Amino acid sequence: MRELRSRVHQEVSKVVMGQTPALDALLAAVAVGGHVLLEGVPGTAKTLLANAFAKAVGLDFARAQFTPDMLPSDLTGTMTLRGGDLVFRPGPVFSNVLLADEINRTPPKTQSALLEAMAENQVSVDGTTHELPSPFMVVATQNPIEYEGTYPLPEAQLDRFLMKIEVGYPEADQELAMLRMSRDGVRPTAIDDVAPVTGADELLAMREQVSSLRIEDEVLDYLSKVVAATRSQPSVELGASPRAAVHLLAASRAIAAMAGRDYVTPDDVSRMARPVLNHRILIRPEAEIERYTPADAITASLRSVVVPR
Ligand SMILES: Nc1ncnc2c1ncn2[C@@H]1O[C@H](COP(=O)(O)OP(=O)(O)OP(=O)(O)O)[C@@H](O)[C@H]1O
Ligand SMILES: [Mg+2]
Repeated sequence: MRELRSRVHQEVSKVVMGQTPALDALLAAVAVGGHVLLEGVPGTAKTLLANAFAKAVGLDFARAQFTPDMLPSDLTGTMTLRGGDLVFRPGPVFSNVLLADEINRTPPKTQSALLEAMAENQVSVDGTTHELPSPFMVVATQNPIEYEGTYPLPEAQLDRFLMKIEVGYPEADQELAMLRMSRDGVRPTAIDDVAPVTGADELLAMREQVSSLRIEDEVLDYLSKVVAATRSQPSVELGASPRAAVHLLAASRAIAAMAGRDYVTPDDVSRMARPVLNHRILIRPEAEIERYTPADAITASLRSVVVPR
């Protein structure tokens, strides 16, 4: 997977400067069948990255802009009349990579239609169940600063995302490199040059390889203690769920594979703890006022557990 990673990175870097952690998260997610939430202010290449990633891994891509008036059927599809027959017209969820842009701008009913599709890899419309393609992966984006007119995802729904990645501003030299890129007006022309360097078959084979990666009992025990520690931090209202533990294991396997190893180290676990757990931990209001964050709680949890040697 290490070699595949470098192929994908090289291809995506034709249009996106930097944003390596976000790209690795997308790769890890596709390697374990997970979904990613990208959080960042406007104009930080979230959409561009998701698009370039889908092209580079040779998967088809659909984008749905989540708006306040969006209906579940705008996502899943509808029954329509064609030549006198009722036929199913699939919505944008029927793609390998679905970019759910500004997921927190749509009311709960549509959000949960998406989260149901994510959890079950199928949707039902008018009583008929339709399988989603494989791989199927949601890349959702949300803007952290606008609260007005938004519907924050409930904890139970956030828990379904493998990772939440904060997409920030590029480094100064990356921003300069971005400005030097050739453009057609404001559109980067290189997006047309991004070509597939892999495909669904190789990705699914990689998924099998990642799932079978070795993990020693000591490392597994470490992982489970770290997750449990988030639940007993004094400033934490809601700690990481058992689902979070499963996701942390999967993500740790994925980065071990990306590093070219066939075993998971405690370091893999501690590196993935933040992106995998940060969106699932709820801080007590009194600690939040003191600016204590989920990241602080994760750091404290990691410190409280002895790292196996
Ligand atoms: N790291 C970057 N590398 C290359 N181009 C970038 C980078 N960051 C921003 N850009 C430029 O900014 C444009 C806007 O990016 P994009 O539309 O992907 O942002 P976004 O994060 O999806 O914003 P929004 O939250 O408003 O949807 C891109 O088309 C690209 O030209
Ligand atoms: Mg966007």
